[in-house]
Amino acid sequence: MSILFCVLIALLHTACNNKDAIPDTVTFTEQVAPILYNNCSICHRPGGSAHFALVTYEDARKNAGACAYVTKERIMPPWPADPQYREFVGQRILSDRDIKILDKWASEGAPEGPKDKLPALPKYPVGSDIGTPDMRIPVQPYFLKGNGFDKFLLIKVPFELGTDTFASLIEFMPGNHNVVHHVNGDMVKYEFDKKKDVFAGERVVNMVEDTSSLLQAFQKLGLSNDDGSYPVLQKSVVNYLPGVIGQKYPEGIGGYMLPRKGAFLLNDLHYGFTKKDDVWDSSYINIFFAKSPPKRPAQEFQLGTLGVAPVEPDLVILPNTIKQVYSKFTVPFDISILTVNPHMHLLGKTFKAYAVSPSGDTIKLISIPRWDFNWQYFYTFKKMVKIPKGSTIIAEGVYDNTKQNLNNPFSPPQLVRDRNGSMKATDEMFQFIVTYLPYELGDENISLETK
Ligand code: HEC
Repeated sequence: MSILFCVLIALLHTACNNKDAIPDTVTFTEQVAPILYNNCSICHRPGGSAHFALVTYEDARKNAGACAYVTKERIMPPWPADPQYREFVGQRILSDRDIKILDKWASEGAPEGPKDKLPALPKYPVGSDIGTPDMRIPVQPYFLKGNGFDKFLLIKVPFELGTDTFASLIEFMPGNHNVVHHVNGDMVKYEFDKKKDVFAGERVVNMVEDTSSLLQAFQKLGLSNDDGSYPVLQKSVVNYLPGVIGQKYPEGIGGYMLPRKGAFLLNDLHYGFTKKDDVWDSSYINIFFAKSPPKRPAQEFQLGTLGVAPVEPDLVILPNTIKQVYSKFTVPFDISILTVNPHMHLLGKTFKAYAVSPSGDTIKLISIPRWDFNWQYFYTFKKMVKIPKGSTIIAEGVYDNTKQNLNNPFSPPQLVRDRNGSMKATDEMFQFIVTYLPYELGDENISLETK
């Protein structure tokens, strides 16, 4: 009896071990393809945001060494936030086992394995990452000369709707994944009788070449009301970063009132540099309507540059120095945080934010141990985070203006500082954007995962 019992335990033990153990031979079709398809191919596929695919055996074999390296260094999949500090909806983290498999596969010559073991490629969405939109508004197509320069554009996307309408989500879809880097878009809301023609004025202003002041740009775009006053601007209604899927909150949370006359103002549509070829981009905006007006519309404030609390000390970063700054803000009433977005430019090194409650508890918000300019996600908490009235939110940033920082835009390093929120990568910013709701009892138990 007891022998049988031991045998049983031993069997169970091996079974469990086997699940985690790495097989003696690792092949593409058996172990590697499932890892790539679940974690990489959403971006690394034809038409995806990365400019090489990781779909076929040939794709993977050619890049086997690079894949082993970038996963071991946790550069890919891109997820700069430390999951030990805070977990978020949709986070992309490879397990240690997956990393070991990719490493073993590369070091053993990247064998293909039995062809019939290859899993089917997941079905990737076309034209939207979420579903079928109710309305699609094209962004003015833009021609990019392949001159190797990044471009920062302010683009107006006007619209006119028959009636007041509600939207649950506004999604930006890049036309050309290879060049569209990121977008942060606001919504201009006209009162119906204050603006005759929302389509008048220019559609695109190049913030580096055409003008340096935002007011001049607004004039070129013809954003003002007919009497010269300015309409309401709702911040950050549409954002895009490669690989980031538009955030739909659970029913009743978030959402937008769309004006009958309005425009999306794509603030810093960043086109990454194109190498040698001239290319066009024809991006568009998808709108998903909601049946009823937003019950609990999301609100937003930001710490730091142009925010509710200043950057301290001033964001002036001397050449050849490491500089630490912070910004802190005491919340005047109970809030429930939905999403946070840390923002710095190329000199960013680390970012951390947390709140300290009046009773002295620390509420962890986010830690980015290795800042990456390319991956500035809007991080949505798995459940809303309650920040009690009187708590102080503290955001801390470290900047590296030495030549050891490989992203330093200047060589040799030069003085870099903030300039009224200039988006140029060669000017710095320090911002912590907080999307929240006024707290309601039980908020901290509401899951924000929608799938
Ligand atoms: C959110 C989108 C996204 C995901 C997910 C993603 N990548 Fe990438 N990856 C990119 C982008 C964008 C680049 C930059 C180069 C480019 O545009 O192709 C890149 C670059 C790379 C590079 C080249 C690095 C270099 O220095 O040139 C490798 C190798 C790579 N990824 C492997 C992977 C692997 C393996 C996975 C999954 C474990 C993965 N990626 C997941 C978007 C992604």
